[in-house]
Amino acid sequence: MTSRACVIGWPVAHSRSPVIHRYWLKQYGIDGAYEKEAVPPEEIEGFLQQLWTHGYIGANVTLPHKEAALRAARSVDEAAMRIGAANTLWLDPDGALHASNTDAYGFLTNLDAEAPHWNSGTGPPMVLGAGGAARAVVYGLIKATGATILIANRTRERAERLARAFGPRIEVVDWEGREEALAVSSLLVNTTSLGMSGQPELDMDLAPMAKNAVVADIVYVPLETKLLAAARARGLTAVDGLGMLLHQAVPGFERWFGVRPEVTPALRAHVIAALGEA
Ligand code: ATR
Repeated sequence: MTSRACVIGWPVAHSRSPVIHRYWLKQYGIDGAYEKEAVPPEEIEGFLQQLWTHGYIGANVTLPHKEAALRAARSVDEAAMRIGAANTLWLDPDGALHASNTDAYGFLTNLDAEAPHWNSGTGPPMVLGAGGAARAVVYGLIKATGATILIANRTRERAERLARAFGPRIEVVDWEGREEALAVSSLLVNTTSLGMSGQPELDMDLAPMAKNAVVADIVYVPLETKLLAAARARGLTAVDGLGMLLHQAVPGFERWFGVRPEVTPALRAHVIAALGEA
């Protein structure tokens, strides 16, 4: 029987997940399918309770349903619990729904691959933003490093809430003071929507950063944000957001289809070509 998974969102048309998972299904010769499901907020609870009836063994969940996915699951892993949102669901043979969040895994696996020296610097990582994406990145950084993590967000109160949730290793920096704080930072991560196509640019002078510093953006449309271009121009290591997107898909595919898929240059090229078509 064909194993079927899907991505659930509202809207969902923009999701690139089908491009990734269908590529792997074909590459590994698996009898599987990966669909898009547009589910409005008032129907999400029922849809998740009936995932099996809808023909699915699992799903990715995107905006605005990541918190609902967490609530719907019988069991939730540590990452999803700490981040407060789930992006990957699967049913066990008894029909119980399990939830994980693979965004932190995706972010860190990509960072390790693209900038292996990111954790050897002396300064604290700095995260811009305090939304859902920031929570995943902060959770990942807390697990991966012993350093203090700086957070700057336009709305300071939101950064402070995030700091309270993650404990004493977080230090909140004023949004206006973010460039000054860069002088001590070895890794800058943009998790805001600034720089995304259709959004204002992120205005950030990278001059204070050390020469071996790393700049990562979770934005992937465009692939080369102004922030990353500025980092490259200064000789810093630049890490784009597409790598995180590709790596976060790995654990779900393995759960549903039984093969741990590889993130390769060919997959990346395939997804970039699809981004161009959008
Ligand atoms: P997500 O869950 O994808 O991270 P979000 O919760 O909407 O999305 O968060 C978007 C982030 O981008 C927030 O940190 C937001 O800052 P606020 O908390 O102050 O809203 C940030 N952001 C969006 N537009 C911004 C702007 N024009 N200037 C600075 N930060 C901005």
